[in-house]
Amino acid sequence: MTSMKTIHVLFDSQHGQTMRIAQRIAQPLIAKGATVRVTPLQDYEQLRDLWSADCVILGGSIHDGYHSGPLMAFVERHRRKLEDTPVGFFSVSLSAGGTEGDREEAMGYMERFFEELDWRPAVRSIFAGALRYRQYSWVTRFMMKWIAKKRGIATDTKKNHEYTDWQAVERFVESCWGLACDASPVAEIEPGI
Ligand SMILES: Cc1cc2nc3c(=O)[nH]c(=O)nc-3n(C[C@H](O)[C@H](O)[C@H](O)COP(=O)(O)O)c2cc1C
Repeated sequence: MTSMKTIHVLFDSQHGQTMRIAQRIAQPLIAKGATVRVTPLQDYEQLRDLWSADCVILGGSIHDGYHSGPLMAFVERHRRKLEDTPVGFFSVSLSAGGTEGDREEAMGYMERFFEELDWRPAVRSIFAGALRYRQYSWVTRFMMKWIAKKRGIATDTKKNHEYTDWQAVERFVESCWGLACDASPVAEIEPGI
């Protein structure tokens, strides 16, 4: 039997898809009896018990090939604590839902993030994000429609289009749960599956 686990999910989201994934990650963990708190990265300082958690799950999205400055600053600032805490990391991008080559690109974004920070969490995964046309400014909508057309994905800007593979998210959660329970990760997550 495992004692009550505390898990923090921190997310850095521009248009809401990483937030949606973070919220979804919490559900199976709560069902397992864990105490889970889902918090936007910008509010992390309000969390008193962040570094005593059994696992911290950290997620961010890719814009123009990079994770955000605040996410990078967070890892830089707390790298020592992150090294002492079981951490699952997920990276959300459109490339993660594309062809083999696209997924390699998405892995590359994440790997570069780790390399630049000289930090490597125990569990790592990439997830396909969404085209949230309804949340974009008209300039962004125009640009994303153009990119979508090139990629052969949805160009109907009247609605949002979600590409996240929720089963892949569930597998990631299982690995993070393994970390929280002090076992080795259930499995290293393969990119994009
Ligand atoms: C302005 C902009 C730039 C983006 N740049 C990239 C990119 O370089 N590579 C990629 O794979 N996805 C890119 N995306 C797609 C996002 O990663 C995707 O929409 C993701 O779901 C965003 O998550 P968020 O809503 O949590 O921020 C971009 C999206 C926007 C709006």
